[in-house]
Amino acid sequence: MSDIENIKQEIEQKIAGAEDIKTLEDIRVAALGKKGQVTEVLKTLGSLPMEERIALGKKVNTVKAELEQCLAAKKADLEKKLLDEKLKQEVVDVTLPCRPETQGRIHPVSKVYEEIVAIFAQMGFDVAEGPDIEDQFHNFNALNMPPNHPARQMQDTFYINNQPDKEFDMDAAYVVRTHTSGVQIRTMEKKRPPIRIIAPGRTYRSDYDATHTPMFHQFEGLVIDKHTTLADLKGCLYDFMKAFFEVDELPIRFRPSYFPFTEPSAEVDIGCLKTKTDLIIGAGTDWLEVLGCGMVHPNVLRAGGIDPDEYQGFAFGAGIDRLAMLKYGIPDLRTFFESDIRWIKHYGFLPLDFSSMTSGLSNNGGLAR
Ligand code: PHE
Repeated sequence: MSDIENIKQEIEQKIAGAEDIKTLEDIRVAALGKKGQVTEVLKTLGSLPMEERIALGKKVNTVKAELEQCLAAKKADLEKKLLDEKLKQEVVDVTLPCRPETQGRIHPVSKVYEEIVAIFAQMGFDVAEGPDIEDQFHNFNALNMPPNHPARQMQDTFYINNQPDKEFDMDAAYVVRTHTSGVQIRTMEKKRPPIRIIAPGRTYRSDYDATHTPMFHQFEGLVIDKHTTLADLKGCLYDFMKAFFEVDELPIRFRPSYFPFTEPSAEVDIGCLKTKTDLIIGAGTDWLEVLGCGMVHPNVLRAGGIDPDEYQGFAFGAGIDRLAMLKYGIPDLRTFFESDIRWIKHYGFLPLDFSSMTSGLSNNGGLAR
């Protein structure tokens, strides 16, 4: 057998025995590299007589091609083995038991917030926002409550000195917003009618008992268009209440009231049954106040840069915490903000039970005990 045949056999044996890609690569370099065994044979060709040179040349080239093929096949084989091993290691056992149930809970305020947004989003409302620290123009003046207006005393306002180096100036002071109604003005400043927004958020008043905390949550609603009427207001709130309390037959009453920024104004009551231990929404002959509303006062439209001769609209505002207390039977508002883990376990909601108008608002049947 010629030299080259020997070399070929020897290398083929080595290839067959290679167990990893690195060894295979070393074998390739030792055979076909610049100083490889086969290359060295090629280098000797020049010193051979013509005929032998041609014969051996052909032979070496065939061997080279065969070895290359052999190397490629082995490489593919090794790579497949490597992949198989990796897949075996990374296998997921779907029969393993689940992780323990998550411990976190969604706070009733967050839940009700989500429910309110879900209902109004379906009615085509956008969600608007405004700052917690507000100037008096947006919190009062533009809402038809000029300085010294008696209605300012209706709300126990926290004032903030926004010029710390000067003496406290009541007129220039900022406030932490006493209601979300300032977002009405901020929306009109940014957007032309038709307007249809709700604005949920934090509000602040100096008050503290079982149904009042210094910080609480409200949501505002504002609709402005050319032909928006009191009938639209009633229909909108009626639909909202029924959807929110998840009661088909819900008695609702509009009671005349007063707010400086709406004319006429009304408060909305829902029918309920109050017993010593229970409160049942939608049954009985008692009434519960849940919401303030009215047709936007022309002065408010003007303050927001909208012509009251061309446009009109309605607004409403309600306490989110109060709605949460009523819907989920939570007796004391102060407990909402005590961060008691037992309370949140009792009244909180499972994190993955999203509220939606299609799959249900409180579809887990209420509480996640
Ligand atoms: N801002 C009022 C309040 O805090 C509620 C309200 C909003 C009333 C909009 C009428 C229109 O009591």
